[in-house]
Amino acid sequence: MASKHNKGSERAPDQDAIELLMADHNRVSKLFAEFDALKGEGGEEAKSTLVAQICQELTVHTAIEEEIFYPAVRDAIEDDDLMDEALVEHAGAKELISQLQVADPEDDLYDAKVTVLGEQIGHHVEEEEGNMFPRARGSGIDTMSLGAALLKRKSELASSSSTPSMTKHASKKKASRTAR
Ligand SMILES: [Fe+2]
Ligand SMILES: [Fe+2]
Repeated sequence: MASKHNKGSERAPDQDAIELLMADHNRVSKLFAEFDALKGEGGEEAKSTLVAQICQELTVHTAIEEEIFYPAVRDAIEDDDLMDEALVEHAGAKELISQLQVADPEDDLYDAKVTVLGEQIGHHVEEEEGNMFPRARGSGIDTMSLGAALLKRKSELASSSSTPSMTKHASKKKASRTAR
């Protein structure tokens, strides 16, 4: 009895870790492309909705890579330089993400920050998909069980991710005057 359709199942569905991460990459890349199309057109609310989505996707993605996928790959491929560089790239992205989470689309450097974040992520994804992932695959790590772990952690993070900073955009434009 194949239990394909059991919705509330405890167990995560089978999912290859590398395919899962690449699907995340594609989703984020589409969001950046959507943002690009909005540039120069105003549409502040649409922009900040997209940017909130981008930040959310990237925050969860980098977390599951750092907590689960990278340590397994580091053990398997024995290339600390490569793994360290990936972490530094994540740190760079997180810095821009944290700025964007409290930024307003009307800010002078807003579009530039989103664009640069997109470029940085593009480079990082090329490194992962062109180098790290093939080597991880070649090392014979169990990408199916890693995929299940990634998926589980992803849904945990998604359900705990309504961080105040994510929701402070658009609806209250610049209204929050913090102590100066
Ligand atoms: Fe990634
Ligand atoms: Fe990454």
